[in-house]
Amino acid sequence: MAKRAGFATRLGAIAAAVGSAVGLGNIWRFPYEAGANGGGAFILVYIGCIIVMGIPVILSEFIIGRSTHSNMKSALRQLSPGKKYYLFTYLCILGSFVVIGFYSVVCGWIIEYLYQAALGNLHGHTPQEYEAIFMGLVSNPWRCVGWTVIFLILNFLVMSRGIHKGIERVASIMMPLLFVILIVFCVNSLLLPGASKGLEFLFYPDFSELTMRGVLDAFGQAFLSLSIGISCLVTYGSYFKDDTSLSMDAATVGVLDTLVAILSGVMIFPAVFSFGLEPTAGPRLIFEVLPSIFQQMTGGYIWALLFFLLVFFASLTSTISLSEIPITFLIEEHKLSRRVAILWTALLSLILAVLAALSFNVLDDVVLFGKSIFDAMDYAASNIFMLIGGLFTAVYVGWILDRKVVHDQLTNGGRLKATVVEPYLIFCLRYVAPVSIIFIFLYLTGII
Ligand code: PHE
Repeated sequence: MAKRAGFATRLGAIAAAVGSAVGLGNIWRFPYEAGANGGGAFILVYIGCIIVMGIPVILSEFIIGRSTHSNMKSALRQLSPGKKYYLFTYLCILGSFVVIGFYSVVCGWIIEYLYQAALGNLHGHTPQEYEAIFMGLVSNPWRCVGWTVIFLILNFLVMSRGIHKGIERVASIMMPLLFVILIVFCVNSLLLPGASKGLEFLFYPDFSELTMRGVLDAFGQAFLSLSIGISCLVTYGSYFKDDTSLSMDAATVGVLDTLVAILSGVMIFPAVFSFGLEPTAGPRLIFEVLPSIFQQMTGGYIWALLFFLLVFFASLTSTISLSEIPITFLIEEHKLSRRVAILWTALLSLILAVLAALSFNVLDDVVLFGKSIFDAMDYAASNIFMLIGGLFTAVYVGWILDRKVVHDQLTNGGRLKATVVEPYLIFCLRYVAPVSIIFIFLYLTGII
């Protein structure tokens, strides 16, 4: 087999994994999901899910990837020879395309906002006018599709530059910067009059507001945000060096990702309450709230530009990792050249993304399972594909995979200690994750 590319440094590898995890899921989706599901109680369930399912599944994906240094299909073949577990890879690939489909549309909106911020058009309006600006964008098929296509082109251009040059470099610079700027916005938001109401909404757990659907949404949100369940982190883990501590890396990804999500909530909700907006506004929430925050700040023009630029990079590091799933698969399993693999992946992504973009305008009467195409993709990606994928990964590593492989990967062949981590991991994978995920599915399908 040809020598595979890998991440050059440990920091670069973590930055790329954090770059995959931190994206629109944290900044755009987390605040509106929390807003729609009552705030505090949703966040508690979310954090619980990260600790007992999210981080263990990240670690499992790293174990599968690094123990074999190959893509999901060949990894499962090597780890379980003669068994059919590798078929699960196809579900991962399908899942990754569904995520790319709706995700690229939102990335397109981000570029449009970046463009509008550069023109100075995000200034001097009322919160209600910002709503009209956003609706104007999504209801226009040319603009909505156009920006989505531009985003996809940029994404696949970066992909064509390969692993270190593209992914690692972009992620190592942009991620720390994004973190700093989020803190600046949080401070600004907290200084707005009436900010405390937003904090109360975000942190006071009112369980009467949380439904079982909300719990499923919290699980789905956690899985989407951590990039787990569709083998993305198997692919990244396969590029890791053999001397990194996988448990430390998994915990770092989980903690930083959660921090960015919570910071996004702290940035958004005080402003939502201060400007008298609806926390339940759904996908358009941040697009209405953020411009109002920017215009309260000195140098708002520059802040707006900087913010959308960083969110753009955060989404790019996520879509890069998403597209890497089918690309690595096509190269290694179907022996395509990187260029051809990129072209096929780009074409399929484009079709799905255009359908999702059109569902806000010309295709707005198309209904799939009671939802628009965009909403159906968004829902299916996190609440179905990624949760089922997470369940498979947990059961596979917890029950099926040879324990020696797990032990070897956790201890780097006996060089590190895993006295607490290993039993914790196995317990979560064997019992907590499968029982919770199966329970919620059975409950929601009305079986229990
Ligand atoms: N985790 C990314 C986000 O929060 C989305 C993503 C999902 C990326 C799956 C890669 C794989 O935005």
